[in-house]
Amino acid sequence: MARHIDILQHPETAIAEASATLAEGLPIGLPTETVYGLAADATNPAAITRIYETKGRPRFNPLICHMSDLAMAERYAIFDPISRKLAEAFWPGPLTLVLPLRPGSDIHPLATAGLDTVGIRVPQGFAGELIRAFGQPLAAPSANTSGKISATSADHVHDDLGERISLILDAGASLVGVESTIVKVEDGEMRLLRPGGLAAEEIERVAGQPLKRKNGALPTIEAPGMLASHYAPGAAVRLDATAVSPGEALIRFGRPDITGAENAAIVLDLSPSGDLSEAAANLFDFMKRADSSGAATIVFSSIPDEGLGEAINDRLRRAAAPRE
Ligand code: TXA
Ligand code: MG
Repeated sequence: MARHIDILQHPETAIAEASATLAEGLPIGLPTETVYGLAADATNPAAITRIYETKGRPRFNPLICHMSDLAMAERYAIFDPISRKLAEAFWPGPLTLVLPLRPGSDIHPLATAGLDTVGIRVPQGFAGELIRAFGQPLAAPSANTSGKISATSADHVHDDLGERISLILDAGASLVGVESTIVKVEDGEMRLLRPGGLAAEEIERVAGQPLKRKNGALPTIEAPGMLASHYAPGAAVRLDATAVSPGEALIRFGRPDITGAENAAIVLDLSPSGDLSEAAANLFDFMKRADSSGAATIVFSSIPDEGLGEAINDRLRRAAAPRE
């Protein structure tokens, strides 16, 4: 059963215990500003294997490697000018850059699924401090069973993975609430591999060029975590609803007119004022709460597809996708 350490009350103990656990090759539950990660030493094959086993994650799906700063990232990857500009503007923060691996780097091929690229992110706050203290990059997927809803609190991590890991660091609710935005620069063009906690518009503003979206399914190797059914609650999911049936769970955005709301099993407001950042921060927690209400279907009102709404709608489409 996982032990919890509150990082605000006991920051030094948290760094010491986390470093010791990581040095043993064991994964830990680690708060970041986006979601909680299941973090382990990215240079240690046994540690990375434990991440895949703990999550039940397919090994062809590469992990994001977390660094303390740009200087550390440069030791592991080669930056083109646009990627460097984005790193300087947005790190630490909810942006992952897919970059060519630097030859001779000791990130283990299990972390990159054998690709010649690596996804790198510099997280804000405590996670960055821990990486600096530990001295090695941390591979960290979201701390949830593969295919399920990502964890945005230590309790979420505990409920899902508490029996399988020994340490969870607790920093309360994740600030951003959805995973990082993933960008890959190829031949001078920026491609969006996953919409996330940094709005595409902000990236385009800094780069001064458009972020290319791919239509339809991405090739497996490009964003393997992003295929059809993902972020799946136990209940069925219906999107863009204007009516809800008795006993269904309703999750609303803004102040929409939804017929039948008074007979819903539970009604949750992502952001009554229509703030997409607030909605993103509440999203996964509300999906879990709606799911545990026992409703057979979770119904969402529509959410604008701009700013963080692009990431929210991406996660909702995957939650609503047909399951195997
Ligand atoms: O906010 C986040 O990004 C969180 C926190 C913990 O940092 N992490 C996260 O990791 O969301 P994960 O494993 O759930 O998602 C990582 C995504 C996957 O879709 C994976 O396919 C993609 O990143 N990825 C990683 N390395 C890649 C690479 N070299 N090329 C293309 N995609 C890559
Ligand atoms: Mg994930």
